This record gives sequence, structure tokens and C-alpha cells, in this order.
Amino acid sequence: MSKTATKPNIFPIVLYGEPVLETPGAPVTKFDAELRGLVDDMFATMYAAQGVGLAAPQVGISKRISVIDVSFKEDPKARIVIINPEIIRKEGKQVGQEGCLSIPDFRENVTRANSVTVRAQDVHGEWFEASGDGLLARAFQHEIDHLDGKLFLFHLSALKRDLIKRKIKKLRQAGDWPPSITPGSKTTK
Ligand code: NI
Repeated sequence: MSKTATKPNIFPIVLYGEPVLETPGAPVTKFDAELRGLVDDMFATMYAAQGVGLAAPQVGISKRISVIDVSFKEDPKARIVIINPEIIRKEGKQVGQEGCLSIPDFRENVTRANSVTVRAQDVHGEWFEASGDGLLARAFQHEIDHLDGKLFLFHLSALKRDLIKRKIKKLRQAGDWPPSITPGSKTTK
């Protein structure tokens, strides 16, 4: 709810190669209207890009804020904002395809914990805990990695990572990267 019906901003998404993506974000200390506006803009940007998660460094803001909605608008309760988050419990293992809005068109199998509990602050600075498994657990881990300057490439073998880096370099030289966003790829983060 908002008294001023201002339209949220859709940010351009920062792509792999920009240093902000590999820089740890600064903790949030001010929980004000500006922060709430930024969070609204991040949700709008995430939905526009067909993502289920987005971290502030992906819009060029080096701060510890991530937004997640693994239901992609289906369930309002699935909208989660985690500020200054940390994982306080990890259990089990899952292997599954993972992508990233900052590395469009590349998807790889990534091993993650199957179930996690996160401790984080909300937009008002209140601490809370949230647990999730499956896709939500994957999203928590992927988005918190972003706040530590880590991309999913970090979890691949050096061989696979170098292969992807070389492919991106080639595509870039050919003028084919970044590609245009493919709608429907809702598991990208
Ligand atoms: Ni990502």
C-alpha cells in the first residue's frame, strides 16, 4: 500500500563482467522510505525480467538486499525480502539447473543444500527467520551468494567456468551477448 501511487522503476540488470557483481555488498543500516522504494523497484525489475530472485548488486547497488518470489506472483505470501541475511542452518543436498539474470542463457547443474534457514531483517529493520527447501532453499542460497559477490559460476568446476567465460567472450565479440531476455524462463535468478 502506498499513498503516492508512483510507478516503480525498472532497473537495467547488470551483466556478468561488471565488478559490482563480484564485490561483497555493504550492510544496510538505514531502514527508511528510500529503502522501501528500492525494494519495490527490485521486485518490479525481477518480475519484468521473468526472474524468481534478484539481489541489489544485480541492479548496480552494492548493498545486502535480495528479493525472492519463487511462486512468480502466484502467491503473495511468497514475496520475500531479505536484508543483511545469513544462513543459520543448512541440511541435505540437491542438484539442479540454475541460471542467473546476470548471466542470461547459461544454465548449469549446481549442488546446494536442500533445506536452509535464513536470518534476515525486513524493510523495517525487524529480524526474522525464514526456512525453505527445494527451489526456495536454492533461491536463498543463490541470492545470498550474490550479496557476497559470488555468482553460481563459483560453484562449478574450473573447467566448466572457464568454458562459459570463453563462450561469453566469443558471443560478446560477435555482438551476440547479452542476448534478449527469453520470457518464460522463470527459474532464472
Ligand atoms: Ni543470480
